[in-house]
Amino acid sequence: MIIRPAIQDDEEALVELLGAVYSFHARGLPALYREPGRDFVLELLRRDNLRHMVAEVGGTVAGLVQYSLECTEATPLKPARRFIAVATVQVAPPRRRQGIGRALMEHVHAWAREQNASHVELNVYEFNEPALRLYEELGYTTVSRMLKREV
Ligand SMILES: CC(C)(COP(=O)(O)OP(=O)(O)OC[C@H]1O[C@@H](n2cnc3c(N)ncnc32)[C@H](O)[C@@H]1OP(=O)(O)O)[C@@H](O)C(=O)NCCC(=O)NCCS
Repeated sequence: MIIRPAIQDDEEALVELLGAVYSFHARGLPALYREPGRDFVLELLRRDNLRHMVAEVGGTVAGLVQYSLECTEATPLKPARRFIAVATVQVAPPRRRQGIGRALMEHVHAWAREQNASHVELNVYEFNEPALRLYEELGYTTVSRMLKREV
């Protein structure tokens, strides 16, 4: 497996991977997400200013992690912060449980150290057991919870 920056030729594979993760969330949380069409996924992929790193296995894109360095100034309420925000990590279904998600996240951790970031942040939904297990395994802890009640 190699982990490398995404290139133009990866676009089709990335649209497929991203489309799958959006569909997964639409199925798990239909009140919050809709299944976007391919064109919208492509637009999102081109629009954002995230770093895209792919895991390549046997010449094929098997996984993607998107992240950014976030720097915020101190305010009277909050201290200055310099951290890495992970937008998403995903692995193609046939390639799961082979250590690719872990390798992508470990790449992010190494990059965070290089950037003198204090920590890595991400959001995950409670229904997403595989992702929760991966993050727990990597030492992530819960900082906040979004609560909801039907009326
Ligand atoms: C979450 C995801 C990225 C994990 O990728 P992966 O390559 O399968 O994960 P790894 O093989 O590196 O797993 C590392 C460890 O995480 C845990 N883990 C990963 N998937 C798991 C699962 N389905 N069930 C239980 N534990 C799991 C295990 O501890 C695993 O170690 P082990 O295989 O030695 O037991 C993958 O399931 C995925 O793409 N899901 C859909 C996209 C998504 O939800 N992304 C997260 C958005 S917040």
